[in-house]
Amino acid sequence: MGRFSEKVAIVTGGASGIGAATVERLSSEGAKVMIADLGEPADTNRDVKFMRTDVSSEAQVNALVEATVKEWGQLDIMVNNAGIGSLSSTPDTDPETWEKIFAVNSTGVFLCCRAAIPHMREKGGAIVNTASISGLFGDYFMPAYNASKGAVVNYTRSLALECAEFGIRVNAVCPGLVETPLVSNVVGDPEDKEHWVGLIPLGRAARPEDIAAAIAFLSSEDAACVTGVNLPIDGGLTAHTGQPNLVTRAKLRAERNSG
Ligand SMILES: NC(=O)c1ccc[n+]([C@@H]2O[C@H](COP(=O)([O-])OP(=O)(O)OC[C@H]3O[C@@H](n4cnc5c(N)ncnc54)[C@H](O)[C@@H]3O)[C@@H](O)[C@H]2O)c1
Repeated sequence: MGRFSEKVAIVTGGASGIGAATVERLSSEGAKVMIADLGEPADTNRDVKFMRTDVSSEAQVNALVEATVKEWGQLDIMVNNAGIGSLSSTPDTDPETWEKIFAVNSTGVFLCCRAAIPHMREKGGAIVNTASISGLFGDYFMPAYNASKGAVVNYTRSLALECAEFGIRVNAVCPGLVETPLVSNVVGDPEDKEHWVGLIPLGRAARPEDIAAAIAFLSSEDAACVTGVNLPIDGGLTAHTGQPNLVTRAKLRAERNSG
């Protein structure tokens, strides 16, 4: 018996990257999973189905939740993971791009929660949002992405309070660098990747499976007393003030001077 046998989950953005790893993880532990994505997943089966869905469309999201409940009779876990990025200065960000990023990354999460919660109120459930460390702190030239993920971080807290009386827990994962198609263009250059990974105390990017494991934990009874949390999964990047490692610098200087 897996942690999610008898459980039904929806994973948005489940056709790729973190979402695909989450589908695999929840399914391997017994869940029935509906993948909601713009594009088709590589695999489906009797217990893993796909419904083409744009999370920024209220009508499509409502239809997704209704279809899932019709298929399996219930909804226990809502993973709001679909997301898109953008990289530009504020003057170079056109309002349409800003709105599109918010429509998918922030409003999409709201629409999915809005549709899912009425089906969870009776028995309780778990909502897990994929925010980002970019929702906790700022990045260079990611105004729309930072703001849209910041909205998810605080919405997660707000919704956790609202849903507590129904036994619905609401949490978010905040990944740092994860090697997925979303960031392949930004870390395509080996030098850029080496620089980025060099900033991460654990010395590596996360794998989609690392994030999926945390989403599974927050979705499960193992996290029965956890709600309203935004969990960084970033190899320690946000544990750092950004100030230099003085001890290592002193050691390097001593080595240089003695050599
Ligand atoms: N990769 C990283 O380094 C990283 C870091 C922090 C947060 N995240 C977040 O993790 C989540 C998953 O990203 P990923 O890295 O796995 O990227 P990905 O591009 O591999 O997967 C994202 C999926 O979302 C789907 N999607 C995009 N717009 C959609 C829409 N309107 N409706 C439904 N589906 C849509 C895409 O088709 C894709 O399958 C995103 O919310 C992203 O912001 C990623």
